[in-house]
Amino acid sequence: MRRLLPGLFLLLPALAHQATTYGEEGAGGNLTRVAVFTAVFLVALFATAWIGLRQAKKRGGREVLWAVFPTVVVAVVGAMVGAAIWSYKPVGGAALALELTAQRYWWGLAYPELGMKSAGEGWIPVGARVEIRARSQDLFYSLSVPGLELTMDAVPGQTTRAWVQAKKPGVYGGVQTEYVGPATDKMRLRLLALPSERFQALITAVQNFTPPEPPEVFLSRCAACHTVRGTKAQGTLGPDLTLFALRTTFGSGVWPNREAFLRPWIQNAPGMKPGVKMPAFPDLSEAELKALLAYLKRLGPEGLDFTDLIRVEEP
Ligand code: HEC
Repeated sequence: MRRLLPGLFLLLPALAHQATTYGEEGAGGNLTRVAVFTAVFLVALFATAWIGLRQAKKRGGREVLWAVFPTVVVAVVGAMVGAAIWSYKPVGGAALALELTAQRYWWGLAYPELGMKSAGEGWIPVGARVEIRARSQDLFYSLSVPGLELTMDAVPGQTTRAWVQAKKPGVYGGVQTEYVGPATDKMRLRLLALPSERFQALITAVQNFTPPEPPEVFLSRCAACHTVRGTKAQGTLGPDLTLFALRTTFGSGVWPNREAFLRPWIQNAPGMKPGVKMPAFPDLSEAELKALLAYLKRLGPEGLDFTDLIRVEEP
């Protein structure tokens, strides 16, 4: 039996897997699991060391040191980890929640308290604590927004939480860092941090905005996948386009929101982003294309312009 005890360590990785998986309750719950894992690990370790010590004593050799030294090291490290876990408090108290949904190959954004949706690009108030809740619809994704000191995973079936606070106005760019397929590098995120008056003005304008009715060609070719709030277009496979004209970029933060890039996108999105779920529309007439481009330009309240914050470089 004693000889078998060290074998128990082989079971520990199973627990360790638990400890690195985020829970619905956020990082706090995750830390509880880390604490349980650490406790079980330490108990098992001390038990083995103790048995080893007794055996060494019986034989009376200098091997005792081999057991004492690592035990002291582990005890000290364990105490430090324990103290850190004990002092952890979830941040909480966020002024605003922003939900991110990762999917092939774009980030959906939703502001649950404001009823506002976007894709690839969103807005946050400078200085306020924003709670980011990330989910995934299909694969395992990972997001890094270096300017906001944010790295988080988006995992199917769970919500991961993190808190960010932008110190200065500007654009905070994020990248998706997990390999998820041929368009891994074309799944970016842009958060525009606005001074709070400007953020408030945006919210008010968005709430008073009534999107125009889509043209016939949009209803027949695009509405199955795209929503425009308050209209017959209610598809959910692709991004919500209600505020499309407010975005400085499209395609999950990749291309500047300008006709020169939008036109080829509508004609052949998979040609620009391999693996995308939006089909190519090579058969659209020039008049239909014009109607679609003109409609997209009208999606968003007028008089808001964020281009001063951002210098969009051509890819
Ligand atoms: C089968 C579903 C589907 C159909 C039909 C479809 N789209 Fe899309 N569309 C998508 C998906 C999915 C994306 C997200 C692509 C990405 O960024 O990875 C998208 C992205 C877009 C974007 C960029 C949105 C953003 O915020 O980045 C625009 C604009 C767009 N589509 C316009 C259209 C137009 C116009 C039509 C009709 C001619 C259309 N789509 C038809 C699925 C669809």
